[in-house]
Amino acid sequence: MLRTQVKSQSKRSLATVSEALLPKKYGGRYTVTLLPGDGIGKEITDSVVEIFKAERIPVDWETVNVTNSEKSKEGVKEAVESLKRNKVGLKGIWKTDVSQSGHGSLNVAFRKELDIYASLTLIKNIPGVKTRMDGIDLVLIRENTEGEYSGLEHESVPGVVESLKIITQVKSERIAKFAFDFAKKNNRQTVTAVHKANIMKLADGLFRKTVKDVGAEQYPGIEVKDIIVDNASMQAVSNPQQFDVLVTPNLYGAILSNIGTALVGGPGLVPGANYGREYAVFEPGSRHVGLEIAGKGVANPTGMILSSVLMLRHLGLDSSADRISNAVYKVIADGKKTTRDIGGPASTKEFTQAVIDELASA
Ligand SMILES: *[C@@H]1O[C@H](CO)[C@@H](O)[C@H](O)[C@H]1NC(C)=O
Ligand SMILES: *[C@@H]1O[C@H](CO)[C@@H](O)[C@H](O)[C@H]1NC(C)=O
Repeated sequence: MLRTQVKSQSKRSLATVSEALLPKKYGGRYTVTLLPGDGIGKEITDSVVEIFKAERIPVDWETVNVTNSEKSKEGVKEAVESLKRNKVGLKGIWKTDVSQSGHGSLNVAFRKELDIYASLTLIKNIPGVKTRMDGIDLVLIRENTEGEYSGLEHESVPGVVESLKIITQVKSERIAKFAFDFAKKNNRQTVTAVHKANIMKLADGLFRKTVKDVGAEQYPGIEVKDIIVDNASMQAVSNPQQFDVLVTPNLYGAILSNIGTALVGGPGLVPGANYGREYAVFEPGSRHVGLEIAGKGVANPTGMILSSVLMLRHLGLDSSADRISNAVYKVIADGKKTTRDIGGPASTKEFTQAVIDELASA
């Protein structure tokens, strides 16, 4: 089976289009690579592990502990090998140093190595979470392997640095197809390409043109629009309800996913997924490590739990996915056992327990 269904967290049905191959099942069970990550990663993946255990989900975890350290390159290699065996992973975020001497981002290296080229972030209001604006329901699809993240930088002469942004037609085409396929399967009406083609006429021009051509030639039922990234940022904070599916090169996607995350209540809430042709890795949408609150037991695991719900849909375990997402939404709407980032009194464990209790009574 090359394609799989991913329905939405809540009422609206969402199906995604990953071509990622499904993993092999042994004795009716899946083995999934678990990469807790740095910061709050362990706390919020523990929450998923507990919930899956309580629900008797047929998933066995293969944990690979990678942390940002001297030995992290070997760790990432081990993580990649595990993913290649299992094909599906649940991942926290690895910390990346800003210092110039440190190694590059482990997250970027990992995604490139597995060619998980499409990143999906679902930005949607959650009932019970107070935000400035309601009615937001947008999907951000970000190219994950090139653009500004090519990793090609050098100091040509002292004081002059060149940093190469790579845009290719092949990769623009495949992310465009991913976005339109997603839109089609989920009854979304519009795909908007985000770019800066007025300035980067060649690079962003190619991205913009490719998305528009793919849409016009292969997806006549879906409207295709484009918007300049600065205007997209302004529109996102003034009138985000206008957006349906956004497709972006790498860096613009990173920025817009963070704007979107803020709009719907913060990094603890937003789920995400990364898809390639063979592998799929589920991780929180806004990719925050959460160092400030790490180890305190107060992190909101919602984004991670909802990412695991996307994973369950990918595995075809839709009724479990529905049960868990409904329970999470119920606990949040109820408001008594939510974490402090959204105004509640509960710890990560108390929130998790409330979800498990809700599941038991459902
Ligand atoms: C990963 O680290 C946790 C503690 O944080 C430990 O309990 C677990 O055994 C480790 N797993 C592996 C495979 O090293
Ligand atoms: C900015 O976006 C809005 C709608 O999203 C559009 O109507 C407007 O023309 C755009 N402005 C510019 C300068 O492109």
